[in-house]
Amino acid sequence: MILITGGAGYIGSAFGRLCSHAKRDFVVLDDLCEGHRHNVPEGQLVIGNVGDSALVERICRSHGVTSVVHFAASCYVGVSVQKPLDYYDNNVARGVGLLRGVLNAGVRKLVFSSSCATYGQPNVELIDESASQQPINPYGKTKLVFEMLLRDLAAARSLNALALRYFNAAGADPSGTFGEEHVPETHVIPRALTAALDESQPFTLFGDDYPTIDGTCVRDYVHIDDLATAHLSALQLLEGGVEGFDAFNLGTGEGNSVRDLLSCIETVTGRAVPTVVMPRRLGDPPRLVANPARAQQKLGWRAVRSDLATIVEDAWRFAQSHQAVRGSAP
Ligand SMILES: NC(=O)c1ccc[n+]([C@@H]2O[C@H](COP(=O)([O-])OP(=O)(O)OC[C@H]3O[C@@H](n4cnc5c(N)ncnc54)[C@H](O)[C@@H]3O)[C@@H](O)[C@H]2O)c1
Repeated sequence: MILITGGAGYIGSAFGRLCSHAKRDFVVLDDLCEGHRHNVPEGQLVIGNVGDSALVERICRSHGVTSVVHFAASCYVGVSVQKPLDYYDNNVARGVGLLRGVLNAGVRKLVFSSSCATYGQPNVELIDESASQQPINPYGKTKLVFEMLLRDLAAARSLNALALRYFNAAGADPSGTFGEEHVPETHVIPRALTAALDESQPFTLFGDDYPTIDGTCVRDYVHIDDLATAHLSALQLLEGGVEGFDAFNLGTGEGNSVRDLLSCIETVTGRAVPTVVMPRRLGDPPRLVANPARAQQKLGWRAVRSDLATIVEDAWRFAQSHQAVRGSAP
């Protein structure tokens, strides 16, 4: 039995869907501060905070949990710059509460959603796991602190943990039913698709004067279904007896600029994306692209749905159906 924290959110719910397909039992713990009830199958959601150790321990014992996949976190870089205390509170302090509950219940396997934001802005084309971790925003720092805690717990032989450092999570379930639904939406693809659907909401491009090929930020977009697969592989590695702490980059090795993305969106949707250029946003590094070789070797994982056109096609299908749902709401 797997405990999925944050399983009502964007990426955690993709992992839940994969578990359902793979016939793996799971229970979700989510306080719905950002997530949505409709992202979790009936009867599999416990509404609560991961920082509530007693609740976590109870869930682990009553459901017979043997491993945890920890997605729950606050994840807006910009907000973390404005409200660092909230970010350390949710991503570190509540995370400590989770770990207490998990360890009290005797669970010893955990997969953690880490981030490329832990690297800061390394001056390399492709970032591998040995790159120095010098985060430049509070969000990235909270993720690094939690990784350090997991490393210490592993050294103390209390827990075996794998941290997966995602690059830019993107895309949607291919059915068009599930996708990114953050309020407010800060991520680039849904914001650009909203602009394609509604020209009165132009896309805000933050910074076109970065030292990149066309002046806009370059990112490594990876489909949520590919991320989900990597989590299952990581769990299988832990279940196979891997001990200690390890970390893997999840990306494609391909960088795309915001301008590349906008042009792909215009091609896929057949619509213009009205754009307003604004100054750079605090905390955004110019380029973040993964070297995913280690995940390929050790997890046997490779992104298979993460070419930019497929990501945009899936996200577009969801954006259209979601707009239809919102449009018909009373
Ligand atoms: N989206 C990305 O590009 C990206 C990149 C790297 C890492 N990550 C990490 O992946 C994870 C999932 O991200 P997402 O994009 O799905 O975010 P999301 O906001 O859609 O999902 C997070 C979920 O956690 C829940 N949650 C937050 N704090 C909680 C708490 N204290 N107790 C219980 N539930 C809580 C929210 O309600 C939400 O359902 C996060 O840890 C994030 O830092 C995301």
